[in-house]
Amino acid sequence: MKEIPINNPELKQILDDLLQVLLKVDRSKYPYDAGVGKDGPVTPEYACSTEYLLHMQGKKVDGFPEKTRGVDLMRFTPPHQSLAQALVKLDHDLLNWSGSRNNAVKMLYPKGGYMGWHHNANAPGYNILLSWSEKGTGFFRYQDPITKEIVTMQDKPGWTCKVGYYGPWHEPDRIYWHCASAPDEERFTLGYIIPHEGMWTSMCDDIQEG
Ligand SMILES: [Fe+2]
Repeated sequence: MKEIPINNPELKQILDDLLQVLLKVDRSKYPYDAGVGKDGPVTPEYACSTEYLLHMQGKKVDGFPEKTRGVDLMRFTPPHQSLAQALVKLDHDLLNWSGSRNNAVKMLYPKGGYMGWHHNANAPGYNILLSWSEKGTGFFRYQDPITKEIVTMQDKPGWTCKVGYYGPWHEPDRIYWHCASAPDEERFTLGYIIPHEGMWTSMCDDIQEG
C-alpha cells in the first residue's frame, strides 16, 4: 500500500460532510463487539501482532478477518436517521464523483478497536482506503508479500488515503496480509475495491488532483 494525498476539494467536501454527521450522533451503544470471535475480545496490540499473524498463517483461512472490534456501517444500519441518510448520500456523492460503485466497508472502530490480520484473497482487487481519526494515533499494518517485512503505516490527524492491491488466491506472491488498529481513539475507514486497474489509476489521480 502507498499513501497518497487527498487534494481533491470535491472529495474532501464529501468526506467532511459525512464526518460532521457521524460525529454528532451518539455512537457509544453500537455493537462494536459483535465480531470479536468466540474467545471474546483481544487487545488491539495482539490483533496486529506478529504472534497472531503467524497463528493465522498457520491455519486454513477464508480471507476475512476472524477478530474485529468495530462496526461495519455497510451491515449495521445506525439507528439515527441523520447518519443513515448521510451514508446513503455518501454513496450517491461518491458514485457521482468517481463513477464507481464498489464500496466494500465502512468500518467504525471504537477506542480500542481493531481488525486482526487477514488477507482478503476472497475479495481481491485494486483498493482505496480512506481513513479518519482526530489525532492519527491508529495505524494500518501489512506484510510485504515478497520480502515478508512487516510495515506499519501510521495514521495522521484527519483523513488519509492509502491505495494498493490485494491479490487473489491464484496469485500467491501478491496475497496481502494486513490489519488495522485504533488503540487510543475512534477511527473510521471507508474501503473500496476497484475491479479494473485503469479505473483505479484514474481514481488515484483524481484524489491527488488539487
Ligand atoms: Fe482487509
